[in-house]
Amino acid sequence: MPSPVSVLFVCLGNICRSPTAEAVFRHKAKALGVEVHIDSAGTHGYHIGKAPDKRSQDAGTSRGYDFSGLACRRVDDSDYEKFDYIVCMDHENMQNLKERCPPEHQHKLHLFLNFADSEFDEVPDPYYGGKRGFDLVLDLIEQSSDGLLAKLRE
Ligand code: 4NP
Repeated sequence: MPSPVSVLFVCLGNICRSPTAEAVFRHKAKALGVEVHIDSAGTHGYHIGKAPDKRSQDAGTSRGYDFSGLACRRVDDSDYEKFDYIVCMDHENMQNLKERCPPEHQHKLHLFLNFADSEFDEVPDPYYGGKRGFDLVLDLIEQSSDGLLAKLRE
């Protein structure tokens, strides 16, 4: 049996946006019956081993998403080989990965908002802002997740 498609979500710290994307995407994929292997990681290692930021968890759990068991890790060189889709939250993450990703895997790198029909082209970093930023992150991640899931089901 072929292994399920695999998706790695990437942001800077792996405690706000990419773990939120992991929780939202897992929830939506399950609801649609789409089998997919999902993980997340950060381009920097400020918070390795930590659970997602409490503000992300509060915003996400209020919409029914489950953050249990998630722990921060950094992107590893083996991820470029392992994953089918490597989905970045912003242009800086994308640039960072482009510089490290071997040429034969560059086609796997995507901006998450490219899967949504949105006036935004990246998921803004909410870390130094207030609650509204975390709610916006969720809005954008929900839209982009729907778009990526639609593509996976084609
Ligand atoms: P994230 O947010 O990239 O969405 O996880 C951040 C988390 C931590 C930091 C910056 C952004 N930081 O500077 O520690």
